Amino acid sequence: MWFFFFCSGRYITFIMDPFQYVYVIRNSKQLEFYEFADKMASRTFGYPSLSNFPKLNENLHRIYQYLQGKPLDIISDHMMKNLQHIFEWKCSQATDWKTEKMYKFCSFLMFEASFITLYGRDPAADGHNVISEIRDKFTKFDANFPYLVANIPIELLGVTKKVRQELIHHFLLRNMAKWMGGSEVIQARKDILEKYELLQDYDKAAHHLAFLWASVGNTIPATFWAMYYLLWHPEALAVVRDEIDHLLQSTGQKKGPGYCIHLTREQLDSLVYLESALNESLRMCSSSMNIRISLEDYILKLGGNQEVGLRKGDWIALYPQILHMDPEIYEDPEVYKFDRYIENGKKKTTFYKGGKKLKYFLMPFGSGISMCPGRFFAMNEMKLFLILFLAYFDVELVEKKPIGPDNSRMGLGILLPDSDIAFRYKIKSF
Ligand code: HEM
Repeated sequence: MWFFFFCSGRYITFIMDPFQYVYVIRNSKQLEFYEFADKMASRTFGYPSLSNFPKLNENLHRIYQYLQGKPLDIISDHMMKNLQHIFEWKCSQATDWKTEKMYKFCSFLMFEASFITLYGRDPAADGHNVISEIRDKFTKFDANFPYLVANIPIELLGVTKKVRQELIHHFLLRNMAKWMGGSEVIQARKDILEKYELLQDYDKAAHHLAFLWASVGNTIPATFWAMYYLLWHPEALAVVRDEIDHLLQSTGQKKGPGYCIHLTREQLDSLVYLESALNESLRMCSSSMNIRISLEDYILKLGGNQEVGLRKGDWIALYPQILHMDPEIYEDPEVYKFDRYIENGKKKTTFYKGGKKLKYFLMPFGSGISMCPGRFFAMNEMKLFLILFLAYFDVELVEKKPIGPDNSRMGLGILLPDSDIAFRYKIKSF
């Protein structure tokens, strides 16, 4: 099943049947992604098209290996240390109940810890202030991100152009040179970009801003939703807390301020209830659209006797939110069930529609050639955030108002909440 949509002089064909996704995902010869992504990203972040620089796209993609395997373990370990450092600091302020807004809290912690992990920090006294300044500008820029993607000229978007320039300025080589302890992935990006002499310093810095957006733009709201749903569902919170406590006990680790928690990749993987709860919140809040462009006039075969005619330049889209909310796949899809991805105490990886097993059932990280290279790191970051938070603090909601998604960035990734919500936390008494 598919339907057409006519927009700005071009047809978009939406593939609605998840069993047909595979015909789009595996057809990267006739259905291209990179040129489309390049146009959108260069306009949004303000750098010249990658197509002007031989093999730059391929070289940048090769670097994604630093987000897998051994380098993933290293970067996740750094994230764990950096998060703990910030939580220790939060502890000094929360000896009694402390109330904060949840989105602001997640944004502060995840931005700071991710930034230090990826880019490092200036060891000079103002290192923390610089990151806060970058975060505030990032938040302003991000608010207009959907308009930039929609091709609205940046000149019409108030201070966005100035804010983007200021943000890019932070990533000029002379400023980045002051940041110590960053990651291999960013160092490798710097090395590649330096090899392109025709790229101006400003353009290289704009590439670093693009990567910063990719690495926190979705992770922050996804962390918010994971925390929000857990606090709304005390039964889920209790099970996840119990699982974490049990792991820490069985690995002989003490929790709370002053104790260092260290978890290996296998130990993080073993937290099946935590992972299921995260997957469930991703199912409910992700709204990314996977777009491909037809490189020629041709007939796309969709299995059986189904096919669709595409003209050169037509768009074809998968919109996994439909899949995520399909009652034939997920019973009561609008209800949060933290253990949806658990079967007999193990990870559940088989889902069905109409009695047929699905290859794709959860797609917050996109698909095929455009699948998110940071997905393993993102999952680790969110797990670590929740593990450490629950290991350090007692926590509860202060307001009992339901929060919904702000649909203004539908199609662009994880939806932001339509408002913030107050919660309170206090160091656990041991
Ligand atoms: C919950 C968190 C995250 C979500 C839901 C997410 C989702 C996605 C999606 C859907 C895409 C594909 C976009 C498209 O098809 O147009 C993507 C691309 C990308 N993501 Fe993520 N992402 C997350 C976290 C991260 C992190 C932590 C990093 C890096 C550390 C990262 C780096 C990237 C990069 C570099 C791309 C572009 C890949 C390319 O060049 O083709 N993401 N992400």
